[in-house]
Amino acid sequence: MCGIVGYVGSELAAPFLLESLKRLEYRGYDSAGIALIEDGKLVRFRRAGKVRDLEHDLHGAAYSATVGIGHTRWATHGVPTDRNAHPHLDCHGRIAVIHNGIIENHAVLRERLENDGHVFSSETDTEVLAHLVESLYDGDLLDAVRKAIGQAQGAFAVAILSQDAPDRIVFAKRGSPLVVGRSEGAAYVSSDVPALLGKASEVQFLLDDELGEITLDGYRILTLDGRPVHRAPHRVSADPVAIQKGGYKHFMLKEIHEQARSVGETLREKLDQGTRLLGMPALEQVDPDFDHIYFVACGTAHHAAKVAEYLWESVLPVPAHAIIASEFRLRNAHITPRTLVIAVSQSGETIDTLMAVRSARSRGAHVIALVNAEQSAIERESNAAVYTRAGIEIGVAATKTFTAQIAALGLIGLALSRVKGAASEAESSRELRELALLPGRIVEALRVEDKVRTLAERLRHASDVLFLARGALFPIALEGALKLKEISYIHAEGYPAGEMKHGPIALIDEGTPVIMLASRGPAYDKLLSNMEEVKARKGFVIAVSDAPEDPNLVRLADEILPVPTSSGISSPILFTIPLQLLAYYVAVSLGTDVDQPRNLAKTVTVE
Ligand code: G6P
Repeated sequence: MCGIVGYVGSELAAPFLLESLKRLEYRGYDSAGIALIEDGKLVRFRRAGKVRDLEHDLHGAAYSATVGIGHTRWATHGVPTDRNAHPHLDCHGRIAVIHNGIIENHAVLRERLENDGHVFSSETDTEVLAHLVESLYDGDLLDAVRKAIGQAQGAFAVAILSQDAPDRIVFAKRGSPLVVGRSEGAAYVSSDVPALLGKASEVQFLLDDELGEITLDGYRILTLDGRPVHRAPHRVSADPVAIQKGGYKHFMLKEIHEQARSVGETLREKLDQGTRLLGMPALEQVDPDFDHIYFVACGTAHHAAKVAEYLWESVLPVPAHAIIASEFRLRNAHITPRTLVIAVSQSGETIDTLMAVRSARSRGAHVIALVNAEQSAIERESNAAVYTRAGIEIGVAATKTFTAQIAALGLIGLALSRVKGAASEAESSRELRELALLPGRIVEALRVEDKVRTLAERLRHASDVLFLARGALFPIALEGALKLKEISYIHAEGYPAGEMKHGPIALIDEGTPVIMLASRGPAYDKLLSNMEEVKARKGFVIAVSDAPEDPNLVRLADEILPVPTSSGISSPILFTIPLQLLAYYVAVSLGTDVDQPRNLAKTVTVE
């Protein structure tokens, strides 16, 4: 989950690297560093802190280097200190390595290298690679890297710069993502496309066990056994504006406001003229005899899967279960060739989800990936992929990708029920008509913003917040609690409202905020009863509701956040919006780092 970038060109490398690192900071942001070839010598700058701190250190220094590498870190081995920041060097300071991933056999390699006289100066696994390349170097950097990664176990994407080969950057990949790109007179390597937007005109996504080099002539990719790789490159289509804040104070707020579009785009490609479900190519190979569905996902994506678990019960005649990906392999989930697995992941890189996909496939399941990033590892290892079309999401706390996942899963459920011959035409056309109205309703739901901002001032003093709901809104309660925890660091828990009396009620004291998702529907009256129970303990009830004028609700709730009326797939999406805004404004009021909350990373590539 670190960000890596490299540049060979005719312009100054340092400003490009710093700008790119800022764009990659969502991947990790506890330390940053760059290495340059300056007047034929390798120079390195690194420190704990954000990219802007590194930039501050470098401010005013006129480096003329046109070749360099840069790194932004999310600590795994070794605490975030200056010493553990990348790039890491060999004994003589001639080779610099930046790395994303984990070298699993680092201890063995380190011991061997230390016995051979190499002196280490950090606690990281990465430094092993610098010394290993040094020990294998005999005039050909690419060959030394090839031999080094032949000895390394684990997942990695690396970029390596050497003073002895000052016109190139060597790269290699296994597990962690890496992309190379080029434009007129320059070549690039990076963990992810956003760093290259507006720079590279074409990119190539590397596959595992590929390596190569970038030079002024572009990029060259080889397999581990030295065969040249030729694949058609991808044109870079995203606009650099997509990774700017566009007048918003934070990416998270911008992304919350983008949801009418991101949900709309996600639906559009799967619907004909907004009302008829199109066949999804990824579902064409699904055997109609499937008899069980598992969703595997982590974090927010798991909550989207959990919404689908509820929604699909009413459209599909087979059971569907959402399992947290890191638990999936530990359980003896009953998997046969008739099992369908849906892997949900914004990034398509999350290692726990990837491992669950591998495990499911090795046991014969058919796996469909639902991803936002194309060409990801999870997509490649699945049988087929469906996309959310949320665009690039930069805020570490997922927002627009979550609602896009629910929308996409809703349609996948309907499509699968057709595969099964179980679809009721009337049901699905009612659902599709509702969905056509959804983008407009999202805009309407966002009008609650001012009210939420005021309410956030009251919540900022809370030490515990409960989120309660029933049915398909229960996962939205989980997501609301997760959002608040992630960015405001206030303890929050989501519970099915019916469970309150079995434990969480003990937490309710005078003024404890309890957020209750009160949707008009079969569970509405029961939820009002739960509200009575909270009131009886002097809790502070915030009702998020599509029945904001109901006198019973008005009597019980201290505050009401209205949500537009809807049903089916639309309802959990619309109930999410006030909760995202609430987490955002509480965090802003507390002054936390909203887009880069402490200890978190957007893409988690360690187990
Ligand atoms: C990290 C992020 C979460 C995200 C989860 C799964 O923990 O901080 O926001 O939900 O990973 O990510 P994925 O890319 O697989 O959806």
